[in-house]
Amino acid sequence: MSPINSLTLRRPDDWHLHLRDGALLRAVLPATVERFARAIVMPNLRPPVTTRAEAAAYRDRILALVPPGAGFQPLMTCYATDDIDAGQVEAGWREGLFVAVKLYPAHATTNSDHGVTDPARIRPLLERLQRLGMPLLVHGEVTDPEIDIFDREAVFLERVLAPMLAEFPALRVVLEHVTTAEAVAFVRAHAAGGRLGATITAHHLLINRNALFAGGLRPHAYCLPVAKRERHRQALIGAATSGEPAFFLGTDSAPHPVAAKESACGCAGLFTAPAALELYVEVFDRAGALDRLETFASLNGPRFYRLPVNDGTVTLERAAWRMAEVVGDVVPFRAGETIAWRLVPGASLETP
Ligand code: DOR
Ligand code: ZN
Repeated sequence: MSPINSLTLRRPDDWHLHLRDGALLRAVLPATVERFARAIVMPNLRPPVTTRAEAAAYRDRILALVPPGAGFQPLMTCYATDDIDAGQVEAGWREGLFVAVKLYPAHATTNSDHGVTDPARIRPLLERLQRLGMPLLVHGEVTDPEIDIFDREAVFLERVLAPMLAEFPALRVVLEHVTTAEAVAFVRAHAAGGRLGATITAHHLLINRNALFAGGLRPHAYCLPVAKRERHRQALIGAATSGEPAFFLGTDSAPHPVAAKESACGCAGLFTAPAALELYVEVFDRAGALDRLETFASLNGPRFYRLPVNDGTVTLERAAWRMAEVVGDVVPFRAGETIAWRLVPGASLETP
């Protein structure tokens, strides 16, 4: 069979993205706007986005940087704290501002210091979300320092997520950036009725934990949850390319200025946005599953979030190009290396 050299799919969305703010936002936003119609914008700013007013102001700062006619829509989230006001969450949901609430276990990752110290403290919020059918987006790692960092996701499933799903049987949850075979199995076991979904990043599909130590310590391969063993990466590829509705695209593109990464204590986060879609195409191509990419990138997410699919298409072609060494002040994933597929500029906003 001759290889596929060009691919057109319905415009995709990024269901997990960090856009930051200020100069960094300005530098990183264009890459996402070029590729995606919508993105779930993570609320872990400093200070975090915890109120309707903050979310509306942040959304407006983003929209002010979107070129007219780009047709890009940021989908805003609310950062859960121990004392989160469920009434405010509901009001934000009803007015169409908040599409979800993000749960960071306190101290699990970047800017999570205000996160939830114990899920028992947010029972009123979980009851409210369950009643509304509003999704809870979960960073699924325990923070117990006794637990090995490579096991923190699997332990979270047993200790936190399974009891939460049992206590709130109609709560709708996205387990964000799954990294393990255990998480893939857990999602499959709980996906019935669309109550549990999962995002999968491009980088977790492309690297395993060896990348962190390839010839030396590699801060630009460090993210959270940290990349795991090869067998886990294979399980993620299986899930992403399966076509199963529970799995959808979420880059977790998480830019940090180069000095914050190349440091004695470097920040977690990989900046994949400048080739986000192209990287997924590479994975699906290698897996012989290009025909399943649209389901993963453009159909499963809207279905979970109960939103319409996008109009228009994007086209990619097999044509190698070289990723920049830096974008603004950020070193992108695969900096200076080859990307095998290229986005054909100018997404079509027409109905396919
Ligand atoms: O690697 C990560 N970076 N993981 C996260 O959970 C947060 C993110 C960030 O905001 O930098
Ligand atoms: Zn994230």
